[in-house]
Amino acid sequence: MSSDDMKKRAAEAALEYIEDNMVLGVGTGSTVDYFIDALSRIKHRIEGVVSSSEATTRRLKTSGIPVLDLNAAGPLPLYVDGADEANRHLQLIKGGGGALTREKIIAAASERFVCIADQSKLVDVLGTFPLPVEVIPMARSHVGRELLKRGGQPVLRENFITDNGNLILDVYNLLILEPTRLEAELNNIAGIVAVGLFALRPADVLLLGTPDGVRAMRS
Ligand code: 5RP
Repeated sequence: MSSDDMKKRAAEAALEYIEDNMVLGVGTGSTVDYFIDALSRIKHRIEGVVSSSEATTRRLKTSGIPVLDLNAAGPLPLYVDGADEANRHLQLIKGGGGALTREKIIAAASERFVCIADQSKLVDVLGTFPLPVEVIPMARSHVGRELLKRGGQPVLRENFITDNGNLILDVYNLLILEPTRLEAELNNIAGIVAVGLFALRPADVLLLGTPDGVRAMRS
């Protein structure tokens, strides 16, 4: 079975968490695209969606799903998003699509975070996937030096500007043994807008698509 088929399985399984008249948050990426396709079939049951990126907003609108503003919608009961890596504590690396800041805001504002992924995303230790960090442009070199001091190898994502007008540094060679400590430490570096480590606010449920079905892990 292809990884796309496994992503689709996980995405379809997330429909189980939708309740009537709900406003939910939706992330970004290819797995989320499958979720939006599935959501469009039951769009009459929901009030709308708070979107984590311009790309997701476009896809939601094309599917006829109302897009709502987080400030107006208030705290959300549910957030559904993918991940680049997940460990067994449901701590994640995200931001492969560059939408990490808005994703983090919506995850923080949501009561339940359901992460959807194919089984290849489950790892023992986070950090093989380079950690995306969103950076204010004038702070690029400063933040790069701070990341080097901590043993990471920051690489500027070429030809990429985030929806917030910032840059992404992808940080290689970080063996993330203490995800919450590292996230808190990186959050304190001036010029970093958001770190793609979701450990202080991990997922509550991880739905992993596998060739045998969907494996659900809960915190
Ligand atoms: C976007 C993300 C995505 O959730 C992550 O990159 C996974 O993407 P995909 O579902 O395409 O594998 O964090 O910023």
